[in-house]
Amino acid sequence: MNWEQIDECARAWLKEAGSRICETFAQQLTIQTKSNRKDLVTNVDKETEQFFIEHIKNTFPQHRVLGEEGFGDDIGALDGTVWIIDPIDGTMNFIHQQRNFAISIGIFHDGVGQLGYIYDVVHDELYSAQKGKGAYVNDSPLPRLQPVSVSEAIISLNTTWVIDNARIDPSRLTPLVKAVRGTRSYGSAALEMAYVAAGRLDAYMTMRLSPWDFAGGLIIVEEVGGVVTNIYGEPLQLLEQNSVLVAKPGLHEQIVKQYIRK
Ligand code: IPD
Ligand code: CA
Ligand code: CA
Ligand code: CA
Repeated sequence: MNWEQIDECARAWLKEAGSRICETFAQQLTIQTKSNRKDLVTNVDKETEQFFIEHIKNTFPQHRVLGEEGFGDDIGALDGTVWIIDPIDGTMNFIHQQRNFAISIGIFHDGVGQLGYIYDVVHDELYSAQKGKGAYVNDSPLPRLQPVSVSEAIISLNTTWVIDNARIDPSRLTPLVKAVRGTRSYGSAALEMAYVAAGRLDAYMTMRLSPWDFAGGLIIVEEVGGVVTNIYGEPLQLLEQNSVLVAKPGLHEQIVKQYIRK
């Protein structure tokens, strides 16, 4: 497999898709709801996914695509080369803020992550990684992540998990929120994973993500020595929804052992 050629295409398509997204800032969006009133999708999410699928199918006809908006293939297993795409991660931010969103892509071969991209379109920051070759933001290499203690950590989490919810007893998270130096919430899982990879955050935790939310980030974070699992420290299932804990080494273990596993 010629990963250099695939990488070159992916980068060119990301830049073009990013420019197209920026052009829509001056236009009226078509906004629809999906599962509930907070779950939004726009014409730009759909058009961006279609843009990638058209290019991938024309250039690499054997590759398959799993995309959030459903224009790709029905993927039951990860054999061969599969692109997992979130055309806009952080749609609510895209609509309300016109920032704090990203295009996320993970490219897997026989289930192994080979290329990962998170493109912060507005800041023109492309986080990327190729398996075994390190991770970058634009042309700058990202250093390997160093251990940090809970008391010095800034962690990102969605505050819906610290109020009553069906997934986790919030009393488990309160001690962690008290123990850390600070908490943040950016509203884009992909960007939050990119921030862990870049050392801007020490950890990111959430109770439910879909494969397209974490596919690109998984490859990038692991490439700099970060740990990506579900909140119990178990490997992520690539074709299912998972809870997700992304953290620097050491911190990951401490969060799982002291705060989550009971
Ligand atoms: C969402 C964002 C958000 C996370 C949600 C995701 P979307 O993705 O990543 O931060 O909390 O679980 O669904 O729908 O904007 O692509
Ligand atoms: Ca969505
Ligand atoms: Ca998403
Ligand atoms: Ca999305």
